[in-house]
Amino acid sequence: MHEVDDFAFFGGEPAFASPLHVAQENLPPWGAIELAFKGIFDRRYFANHGPLVRELDQCFAEFIGAEHAVCVTNGTVALMILAKSMGLSGEVIVPAFTFPATIQALYWAGLTPVLCDVDAHSHMITPKTIEPHISPRTTGILAVHLWGQPCNPQKLEPFASDHGLSLFFDACHAIGASFNGRRIGNFGAGEAFSFHAGQIVNGSEGGCITTNDRELAAKLRTMRSFHPSETFARVPLRINGKMSEAQAALTLLSLKEYQQNAAANRLRYEAYLSALSEIPGVFMLKYEPGYDNNYQCIVVEIDQEQAGLHRDVFLNLLSAENVLCTGPFFSDLDHMISFSDRPPTTGSFPATLRLCNRLLQLPNSQKMTLRDVDRVCSLVRDIHQLATPIESKLRAAL
Ligand SMILES: Cc1ncc(COP(=O)(O)O)c(C=O)c1O
Repeated sequence: MHEVDDFAFFGGEPAFASPLHVAQENLPPWGAIELAFKGIFDRRYFANHGPLVRELDQCFAEFIGAEHAVCVTNGTVALMILAKSMGLSGEVIVPAFTFPATIQALYWAGLTPVLCDVDAHSHMITPKTIEPHISPRTTGILAVHLWGQPCNPQKLEPFASDHGLSLFFDACHAIGASFNGRRIGNFGAGEAFSFHAGQIVNGSEGGCITTNDRELAAKLRTMRSFHPSETFARVPLRINGKMSEAQAALTLLSLKEYQQNAAANRLRYEAYLSALSEIPGVFMLKYEPGYDNNYQCIVVEIDQEQAGLHRDVFLNLLSAENVLCTGPFFSDLDHMISFSDRPPTTGSFPATLRLCNRLLQLPNSQKMTLRDVDRVCSLVRDIHQLATPIESKLRAAL
């Protein structure tokens, strides 16, 4: 058990000598990477639908069980191309609680995002949170499988079709997740994934769109490139969103390690769940049974009254210990459309704002052992137990 002065924030030694990250940081063995990169150098084929990108298009489609996979530069570009490919106009309803790329991709596609609140328990949109925002200008719904949980397609698909709306998904967190045995990537018109280094499948950067619609796939393939590609379809616009051979090489190797990395994530997730459940005011997000997840995200809510301190104090004290946890995607709604001249967000978003105030993501990188998880949870417990003296010390420092 810590004394207050032992915390690194107050001048003690950090609990961890090197930083623990929220990002997954999955790295295949160096020998395998070296061999794959030597192949690229030997072929002198670095870009423009090279053999590794073609192989990844095929392997990722097989992995998802979808008919088509179209790999691109990153998850944001995947969302932009998908949104533009669907021939929509007017307004698209999108969760207020998501990574900013989800919303900004709609602006890039010339659409107007209309933010709706999320369900307080799952952190995702539902027909109930979407319905009040449907207007005669609404043409689509962009749902997000947040934290790798499926954003219930069984409810959203009939809801969208009853209202005559197109449905597509941001699946950037959800590689390998499934809903009732069917992998995410098979729902709505299309789904966008990210292979950023922080995700379970690491291509350094990278992204992909999957779809079971042949015509849409042909459009997506044409849109991702200005170069002659394998298909030519009539499209509204094209962009250089091609994945490079280097990205494809890393992604292919990382995809092979999916099962082992997801299993290791799950062990850490369960260790967190059992240790944190004993700490008052610290509520870890639990995934629904029957919904498979890649368990890459360790998401907790801190209730200040029960935990004794605000989420920000937990975040600052843990970060000083080299436990580099993160808060929500943004501190308030206007940051979602930040650095732009868009009109300020209006409407009522109680669940989103509550999450902005309470959410904390804890590290789950592959270099963490179960003992590390235990030590992180002990720190959280100590911070809770020493809440009163910590609060006094912080006040005195003001
Ligand atoms: C929910 C969500 N959507 C989209 C993205 C964008 O993906 P990328 O970083 O590959 O552009 C991210 C990235 O973290 C994300 O978390």
